[in-house]
Amino acid sequence: MVRVAVLGAGRIGSIHAANVAAHAHSKLIAVADPFGDAAHKLAERLGCEASLDPVATIERDDVDAVIIGTPTDTHVSLTLHAVSRGKAVLCEKPIDLDMAKVDSAVAEIERVGGRVMLAFNRRFDPSAAALRRAIDAGEIGDVHQVIITSRDPGLAPREYLAHSGGIFRDMTIHDFDMARFFLREDPVEVMAFGSRLIEPSLEEFGDFDTVMVQLRTASGRQCHINCSRQAVYGYDQRFEIFGSAGQVLNDNLRPTTIRRWTRSATEVREPLLNFFLERYADAYRLEYDAFAKAVLTKGPMPVTAQDGRQALRLADCALESALTGQSVKV
Ligand SMILES: NC(=O)c1ccc[n+]([C@@H]2O[C@H](COP(=O)([O-])OP(=O)(O)OC[C@H]3O[C@@H](n4cnc5c(N)ncnc54)[C@H](O)[C@@H]3O)[C@@H](O)[C@H]2O)c1
Repeated sequence: MVRVAVLGAGRIGSIHAANVAAHAHSKLIAVADPFGDAAHKLAERLGCEASLDPVATIERDDVDAVIIGTPTDTHVSLTLHAVSRGKAVLCEKPIDLDMAKVDSAVAEIERVGGRVMLAFNRRFDPSAAALRRAIDAGEIGDVHQVIITSRDPGLAPREYLAHSGGIFRDMTIHDFDMARFFLREDPVEVMAFGSRLIEPSLEEFGDFDTVMVQLRTASGRQCHINCSRQAVYGYDQRFEIFGSAGQVLNDNLRPTTIRRWTRSATEVREPLLNFFLERYADAYRLEYDAFAKAVLTKGPMPVTAQDGRQALRLADCALESALTGQSVKV
């Protein structure tokens, strides 16, 4: 059994806590959140203890591992405190918005031999994992191009956007990680365009709502990522990997597989699963399972703090490229 505490009882913390509570080889010990009654409500629902003190919760003797689902600017201090106490950590993305802070955090994690997994959940989506298995099995030969479409159903609230760190670090960061996951090689050059086609006032935050990114690896493999903050038809998440011997790609998910034929239209299908909590429900569950297995077997973490660092580096390069109009060497 791995004994787990979840820090942060908001959107993502609630998902993680429920997955821990339902896991066959885990025990949810406590959820901690210093604000309001979020921790108490979640703890009551899942049958564990509640705390207003995340630091004291990390330090409990009956906690082996912590999941950090708190706001981004708290990730580094909570992670470093947890690894200093010998606890395994599943930390939400991004590690931080500031590269220098991430560099020193990753160095400290490595110095103390900290066991940290970065929560890039999309790697654990059954379709994404199957695409990677097909690549690893050589089904499409040598990977030449990766094409990633990643569109949110609607603009996040203004208050969220003001503190998000911008579209590249907040949203596209998942796609940078998936680019590395499918390319199996680190990009060395980034070219990006950013526009405000949905919400012109994002200029106030130096942010964009519509971006296209090109990545190139040292061996010449290419990746194209397109992100929009608002796809009116729903959460659009597709990958296409093209290689010397073929291609593999996935489709979006819908609540059911039914198709309707009427006088006015044929082949009408249901809307896409609405957003990340629904679309990636399986991915969050399987992500936690991979973390629990790594903790219980003392095996390697399937996604590392270095992976978190690399994705943030690509995000920073993309922002620089979008602002300068020049391609940026990583
Ligand atoms: N992997 C994903 O798909 C995914 C999805 C959403 C959010 N996230 C990441 O998860 C993090 C949280 O996002 P969210 O949408 O759940 O936010 P949220 O605002 O819904 O929840 C955050 C919670 O943390 C609490 N909190 C604040 N400071 C705390 C502290 N020091 N200790 C414990 N709790 C604290 C807040 O009171 C709040 O309840 C962000 O870093 C975000 O980037 C990842």
